[in-house]
Amino acid sequence: MHLINMAKQSIRSLKTIYPWTSTPLIVGAPMKSITGPPMAIAVSSAGGFGFIGPGEKPEDLEAHLTKASELFSQSSNLSSADGVLPIGIGIQTWTGDLNITTKILKDRKLGPAAAWLFAPRHGQGELDEWTRAIRNISPQTRVWIQVASVADAVAAARSKDRPDVLVVQGTDAGGHSRTKGAGIITLLPEVSDALSTIEGGSDIPLVAAGGLMDSRGVSAVFALGASGAAMGTRCLATKEAQINPGYQKAVLDAWDGGQTTVRTQLYNHLRGTLGWPEAFDARGIVNQSWRDHESGVTFEENQKLYKQAMKTGPDGWGAENGRMATYAGTGVGLVKEVKGAADVVVEVRKGVDGVLGAVVEGLRET
Ligand SMILES: Cc1cc2nc3c(=O)[nH]c(=O)nc-3n(C[C@H](O)[C@H](O)[C@H](O)COP(=O)(O)O)c2cc1C
Repeated sequence: MHLINMAKQSIRSLKTIYPWTSTPLIVGAPMKSITGPPMAIAVSSAGGFGFIGPGEKPEDLEAHLTKASELFSQSSNLSSADGVLPIGIGIQTWTGDLNITTKILKDRKLGPAAAWLFAPRHGQGELDEWTRAIRNISPQTRVWIQVASVADAVAAARSKDRPDVLVVQGTDAGGHSRTKGAGIITLLPEVSDALSTIEGGSDIPLVAAGGLMDSRGVSAVFALGASGAAMGTRCLATKEAQINPGYQKAVLDAWDGGQTTVRTQLYNHLRGTLGWPEAFDARGIVNQSWRDHESGVTFEENQKLYKQAMKTGPDGWGAENGRMATYAGTGVGLVKEVKGAADVVVEVRKGVDGVLGAVVEGLRET
């Protein structure tokens, strides 16, 4: 009960800081260029918390914020954001540019409500530097940090520049995470217990991520003590996702993700993305590139074939003949339909009440 009571306070404080959100809080995770302003605003307008991904380069933030402000001003149900743009921005600090980012944030009339930091090359020190700079230039922007281990969560909580929110990412997550990971069902309570031993640590709201595709998984993480639930892979199959139709089809077609996705750096390297911090790799759907790699095809040959596949449009994706990076989590088999992002948020949020109510009722009856 201790865990849940701690979460109750955090849930209340999140609702106070972010008045447009409804509980239970559903978060649209930042996903590189796939989650643009339309997705972020759609999620927030449904009472969730939408994040814009880091884009292809740090300069993209300017256009993204301008577009998001435009969409915000047109949105009828997002008027109560209390002087902030009611969305967040995702930053991968290892590849981010602090000067460019702070310059863009400095010039904004409405700053984003949150900055979600992820994947530092130099650990907590790098995250601290970003946190200080963001708070200095845009005080209304709260700092969220995504971690995938208890040690990283403890380091964040012990920092004098501790984050406002910690996103705890289980190993089922699609896209990048720590190579070595744990499922959210053990990671979240262990993080929560560890934080409760640090002064003020239990005041940091925890948002769970990794494997949350529908109201069943989301209900489970609230039972574990989360104050919010972040969804990535589920949002790949939304109308607002800026995604190639071939990629989206591969997500809908995939099933049994524990067997049909893999954590690897191979796809990063094939597409020419080099330099990810060593502790990280990415989870994606197994396709011909991976099978060729496993059967001993040289990297050079595999990359040549990858580049050819890039020219084939949607046909470049697909578990059977596709070759393109198709980042998605183990929960991919639960994603069966493309919907509007707002519909996903409302459906999941409403579903949580039903699932938790039915569980309690079922337990009482037995
Ligand atoms: C295609 C894809 C791209 C992602 N890009 C980012 C990113 O740019 N920054 C980030 O912090 N997390 C990124 N993530 C990870 C998400 O933040 C989140 O941890 C994950 O999607 C949650 O697990 P799920 O995919 O099972 O919902 C990405 C995930 C996916 C699937």
